[in-house]
Amino acid sequence: MKLSSVLCSILVGGVIALASAWAVKLVNWVWLRPRKLEKLLRQQGLQGNSYRLLLGDIKDLISVAKQHQLKAIQLSDSIPPHIFPYFHQSITKYGENCFIWFGATPRLMISDPELMKEILARPDVFRKPQPDPIGQTVAGGLLFLEGHKWAKHRRIINPAFHTHKLQNMVPAITLSCSNMIAKWEALVSGNGGEEIDVWPFIQDFSGDVISKAAFGSSHEQGRRIFELQKELLNLVLDLMHFMFIPGWRYVPTRANRRSKEMSEEMRSVLKGMIKQREEAGSDGDLLGTLMDSNRGEADGMSMEDVIEECKLFYLAGSETTSLLLVWTMVMLSKHQEWQDRAREEVLQVFGERDPSYDALNRLKIVTMILKEVLRMYPPAPLIARAATETVQLGGMSVPVGVDLLLLIGAMHHDPKIWGDDVSEFKPERFESGQSSLLAFGGGPRVCIGQNLGMIEAKIALAMMLQRFSFHLSPSYLHAPFFIITLQPQHGAPLLLRHLP
Ligand code: HEM
Repeated sequence: MKLSSVLCSILVGGVIALASAWAVKLVNWVWLRPRKLEKLLRQQGLQGNSYRLLLGDIKDLISVAKQHQLKAIQLSDSIPPHIFPYFHQSITKYGENCFIWFGATPRLMISDPELMKEILARPDVFRKPQPDPIGQTVAGGLLFLEGHKWAKHRRIINPAFHTHKLQNMVPAITLSCSNMIAKWEALVSGNGGEEIDVWPFIQDFSGDVISKAAFGSSHEQGRRIFELQKELLNLVLDLMHFMFIPGWRYVPTRANRRSKEMSEEMRSVLKGMIKQREEAGSDGDLLGTLMDSNRGEADGMSMEDVIEECKLFYLAGSETTSLLLVWTMVMLSKHQEWQDRAREEVLQVFGERDPSYDALNRLKIVTMILKEVLRMYPPAPLIARAATETVQLGGMSVPVGVDLLLLIGAMHHDPKIWGDDVSEFKPERFESGQSSLLAFGGGPRVCIGQNLGMIEAKIALAMMLQRFSFHLSPSYLHAPFFIITLQPQHGAPLLLRHLP
C-alpha cells in the first residue's frame, strides 16, 4: 500500500473516532444525562414535567412570560403568580420543591428561607449556573466569577465601598437628585398637580449616580456604556431562547450580531477611558480604585477584567436601585399615611436642607418603608445556583447537574413566614429585629453595593418628600414583571404636587 493511502485511512479513522466521541457526548448531554437526573429527582418524590428533548420547558416558559408581561393586576393582588407565572404554575401543579427544565438542565425551586441561607453561605459548593446568557452577553465581572478569581476581585473592589468612599459620594448623589427634581419642578407648574411618569427620570438619576461612582470625572463618556447595556438587556429574552446550546452565541442571528456590535463599542469606549486615566491619574472612583489596586498587586487585574467590572457596576447597581425607588414612590402614593409619616421624619431630621451622610441613620421610618418595599418588590427576585457536588439539602439529595432557583420574590410573600397580612404594605413589620429579608442575597457573595443602594434611595426619597406630594395617576397600571429584575411594565405615572 502506498504511504499516501495509509495516511488517508489514518486520517479518516481519526475523524470517525472524533465524530463518534462527539456523538456520544451529544447523546449524553441532550438525552442520557437529563433522563438520569430526572430519575434521581423523581426517586425522591420531587416532581416536574417530563424532559422534552433539547428545549425542555423553555419554549413554554418564554411564551407564558410573554403572555403575562404586560398584564396589569390590582395593587392588592398576590404578586408571585404574576411575576413568576411559569414557576407559579409548576408549583401549583407539582408542589413547592418541584423542578422545571431549562433546556437539558433541571432547575429545582427553593422557597424556604433557611435553605436559601444555607445555599448562599456555601459559594464553594453552590456556584453560578453555566451557561449564563447575561454573564456572557451583557456583563461579566464579580457577579459571575468563581473561586480564586472571585475572591481576588472582591478583595480589590471592596475598598471602593468603604464608608469614607460612600460618604464622598453623597454630594454627587444630591446633585444628580437636584437635577431630576429641577426637571419635575419645570413640569409641575401651579399647584394643581401634574402627571409625570417618574420611572424614566429615576432610571436616569441612578444611571447618573452609578456613572459618577464608577467613572468620576469621565462619567459623561461612561453614560454611553450604560446606554449600550440597556439596549443589550432588551435583547436578553431573544438571546435566551437558544443560549444554552453550546456555541449558539457565535451563530450570526440578528440578536447575536447586534449584541456583538454593542459589546465591541463598549469595549472600545472603556479602553479609551482607561488609557486617558492612566495618563491623568486616579480619581477615587471605582475605575481609579481598580487601577490603583492593580499597581499594588503582583497578580492584579487585566484590562479585560477592569472592563468587565466597570460594565457590571451599571448592570448590578443602577437598575436595582432605581427599582427600589420607583416601587417606593408607587407604594407611598397608594399609602398616603406612610408618605405623611416619612415626610414628617425627613423634615424633622433635615428641615429644608439637603440630606447629610451622618444624619441618614436617623431616618427610622424611611428605612422601614424601604425594607418593606424590598420585601414586596425585591429588585432582584431570583438567584440561581448550581451544585458542584452531590449535596444533602433539607432532606433532599441534590446531584451535580441540577440547578437551584432561589425564589426570593415568592418567599417574601409566603404567609407562613410573614403572616396572613403578607400582601399588605406594612412597614411596621420591620420595626424590630432580624427577618427573612433576602433582597440583597446573603453569605460571602452578598451584594457589595447594598449600602450605596440604600444611601442613594434614602437621599433621593428624602429630597422628593421635601418638595412634592405624590398620588397614583388614574392612568397608572400595576404590572411588576420579572425579566432579570422586577420592572414596572407600564412605567409609573404619578400626580406630583409642589408642596407650599
Ligand atoms: C437596591 C439595590 C440593590 C439590590 C436589591 C441588589 C441586589 C443584589 C443581589 C440579590 C445580589 C446577589 C446575587 C447573587 O447572589 O447571585 C447582588 C450582588 C451584587 N451587587 Fe447588588 N443590589 C443592589 C445595589 C447594588 C449596587 C448599588 C451595586 C454597585 C454599585 C451592586 C453591585 C453588586 C455586585 C458587584 C454584586 C456581586 C457580588 C458578588 O458576587 O460578590 N448592587 N446584588
